[in-house]
Amino acid sequence: MASDVGLNAASSDFAKSPTGDPYLLTPGPLTTSTSVKQAMLHDYGSRDVDFIELNRHICEQLLEIAHAGDSHVCVPLQGSGTFSVEATLGTVVPDDGRLLVLANGAYGKRLAQIAARLQIDHLVEDSGEIAPPDPAAVEMALKKDPKISHVVMVHAETTTGMLNPIEAVGDVVKRYQRIFIVDAMSTFGGMPMDIAVLGIDFIISSANKCIQGVPGFGFIICKQERLEACEGQARSLSLDLFDQWRTMEQSRGKWRYTSPTHTVRAFAQALVELEEEGGIPARHARYCENHRILVEGMEGLGIPCLLPRALQSPIITAFYNPDSPDYTFKEFYTRLKKGGFVIYPGKVTDVDTFRVGSIGHVFPDDFRALIKSVRESMFW
Ligand SMILES: Cc1ncc(COP(=O)(O)O)c(C=O)c1O
Repeated sequence: MASDVGLNAASSDFAKSPTGDPYLLTPGPLTTSTSVKQAMLHDYGSRDVDFIELNRHICEQLLEIAHAGDSHVCVPLQGSGTFSVEATLGTVVPDDGRLLVLANGAYGKRLAQIAARLQIDHLVEDSGEIAPPDPAAVEMALKKDPKISHVVMVHAETTTGMLNPIEAVGDVVKRYQRIFIVDAMSTFGGMPMDIAVLGIDFIISSANKCIQGVPGFGFIICKQERLEACEGQARSLSLDLFDQWRTMEQSRGKWRYTSPTHTVRAFAQALVELEEEGGIPARHARYCENHRILVEGMEGLGIPCLLPRALQSPIITAFYNPDSPDYTFKEFYTRLKKGGFVIYPGKVTDVDTFRVGSIGHVFPDDFRALIKSVRESMFW
């Protein structure tokens, strides 16, 4: 069984990456460096002093790269990114609060789904999948409804790759003195942002996105005074953001419940590599270059992007599936995987698309190789 799934065998079918695995050009998990994977070859106990020190260190570094200053604290939480989103919404919106959800794709809709499941009083401003949230509509909603206490939106909507206007919306939310929550799952660490300037009270991301760690935990950077006001408010025990923070504070870095020890070590190594690369500006420049080569190459092969350039993030790009009776995504995917690249199916409701991510431990030359592989895989 183990050898069926490639365990205990160096898989050489996909000649591209050093480990013989295909490159993951997806929204995550992403391709990681060999040294990030190697960092997991150690066992740590949850109470080990070195491990506890590592936890404190990664939180400090996350606050630093977020330009959060002293006003914010970092709370890591076990689970995938959605767990951190659910913990945030379920903890910070009080029973008598009201949440405005800005949606323009599957991840915006998930925010509303979480609010509904947790019985949080909420309303949804849906701009449709091909349009960004409109700051003027947010202003109108906040003016009309003083009961709205919190506003939440996604930074890069992974459904389409659209970069949403968190600066303009944040400006409105700040003027109306409401609490601003941003799901920056797929952008944090890969795009410069100054969360104190942006006026973000809670920003959420996870280990396996632009920091280039492996899956296993998320983290929330929270304005401390806002988090302190949330004691006893959470709608869940294990997803209680306040308790998670307080426990870590009191124990000076120990997680509540079993800690994702190997993932934390990989993450710490990934942070070292982010710094070695030149920090977020350099990583952003690499992702932009990956994205440029991808888009120009695909368009040169007659495969256009879904979004206009002005709305597109350098994180993930949706392309129209070729309009040919011979084309199937499955066959295209299989051929590209044989060439060493894993792409992603589309998620847009009414348009037939596929997606290619430009983030992770992947470089401009890998994208040149991808375009060559796409050209060789065109069977339609
Ligand atoms: C913007 C955004 N939010 C939330 C999530 C959910 O994260 P996870 O799949 O780790 O739960 C994703 C995943 O890609 C995402 O891109």
